[in-house]
Amino acid sequence: MKESKTGIFSEDEKESFYKVIFSRRDVRKNFVTKTISDKVLHKILLAAHHAPSVGYSQPWNFILIRNNDTRNLVKESFLKERLKAIDLIPNKAKRRDKYLNLKLEGILESDLNICITYDHSRFGPFVIGRMTIKEAGIYSVCCAVQNLWLAARVENIGVGWVSIIDNIDLGKILNLPSNVQPIAYLCLGYVKEFENRPDLESKKWLERMPLHAVINFEKWDNESETESSWNSLRNELKKQT
Ligand SMILES: Cc1cc2nc3c(=O)[nH]c(=O)nc-3n(C[C@H](O)[C@H](O)[C@H](O)COP(=O)(O)O)c2cc1C
Repeated sequence: MKESKTGIFSEDEKESFYKVIFSRRDVRKNFVTKTISDKVLHKILLAAHHAPSVGYSQPWNFILIRNNDTRNLVKESFLKERLKAIDLIPNKAKRRDKYLNLKLEGILESDLNICITYDHSRFGPFVIGRMTIKEAGIYSVCCAVQNLWLAARVENIGVGWVSIIDNIDLGKILNLPSNVQPIAYLCLGYVKEFENRPDLESKKWLERMPLHAVINFEKWDNESETESSWNSLRNELKKQT
């Protein structure tokens, strides 16, 4: 990879970076039958492995799954968990029907499944930065997931995260040792096209919140914030949704 001497990104590079961020999607459909080459897969995994991690603990493993028997077992767990979740939807028949009609995984249709795991024992028990917040190890794995997701998008490969799977089932299916926890089950593959909007938005399940609704100034309670130095940003944010 060519690197600039100063480490400064050009305007074109910046633009490409934001394009990747905004065009990344969670993909569960439109997969095509094209194999991800080892060369491309290597690049994506290397990007994931360069994620930040608490105390540099690199607590992740990437289990690469192409075997159909394994995938069928994972799909069974998904189907079981999806049905269990229905009972938790507030008792509105329409909402339940909508949930059942959502496509929430691409376990069998995608080219490759990857289970990204967390190993709490790696380089432990003393890990710099993890002694107060024990979940910081899991946060690190999520950073690796996001790196993988974005690298895959650059390679025009769709990724879908399936969290409707029982971790106990996954542990058994994938022979995970007791110190290793599954964090993300991902389905990867080339796709016909990438959607412009999240599926859950186009299917009118939820909408993206306006940015201003999730920005707080100095403290949680925005009303108590009278500091005028934020006013310009506050007004700017309110103009856009
Ligand atoms: C931790 C996590 C778990 C998720 N689990 C699922 C899932 O089980 N099934 C699914 O269809 N999407 C799942 N998603 C994808 C979200 O639904 C998706 O990110 C969100 O709707 C926004 O869409 P976008 O990723 O295309 O921007 C998950 C995302 C995250 C971050």
